[in-house]
Amino acid sequence: MIRKEALESVKANVENANLVKHMLATEAIMRSLARRLGEDEEEWGLTGLLHDIDVELTAGDMSTHSKLGADLARELGASEAMAHAILCHNEAHGFPMETKLDKALFCVDPLTGLITAAALVRPDKKLAGVEANSVKKRFKEKGFAAGANREHIAKCSEIGLELDEFIELGLEAMKGIAPQLGL
Ligand SMILES: [Fe+2]
Repeated sequence: MIRKEALESVKANVENANLVKHMLATEAIMRSLARRLGEDEEEWGLTGLLHDIDVELTAGDMSTHSKLGADLARELGASEAMAHAILCHNEAHGFPMETKLDKALFCVDPLTGLITAAALVRPDKKLAGVEANSVKKRFKEKGFAAGANREHIAKCSEIGLELDEFIELGLEAMKGIAPQLGL
């Protein structure tokens, strides 16, 4: 699979620029995580990039979200491992997460929202000044970015990362593509 084609397909299927940014952020963290864990960076990155490709097509229908996405990813040349991770990142289906890739996507997905919110509450709305410690504090504030499921983020322990390390890695990864995220 070629990244350029994957990104073009994401943009063709997702009009909302913030949702595209969410997928770019997920890609960046998945790449960084793959490097950290000695996994296939391209496979993990592209899984992150594509994971919500069906989000507008399924229009909030959780019974189809991620099933269609997995099919679209397969059409783009995704491996079964990638399609499976996309499929089970929506827990509404009840498919058990089996691989490290499955688990990684599941905990990275909500982390992007927490980090984005930590940037947006700053006067400059930029990631550059966000420190890992402030994201860690925000993690404990239930009312802050409430949509970023803390239990899901904490599943990073299942791929061998402490929460603090996971937050630091995620923040650095998103800072690395801050201009593309508009943050
Ligand atoms: Fe997502």
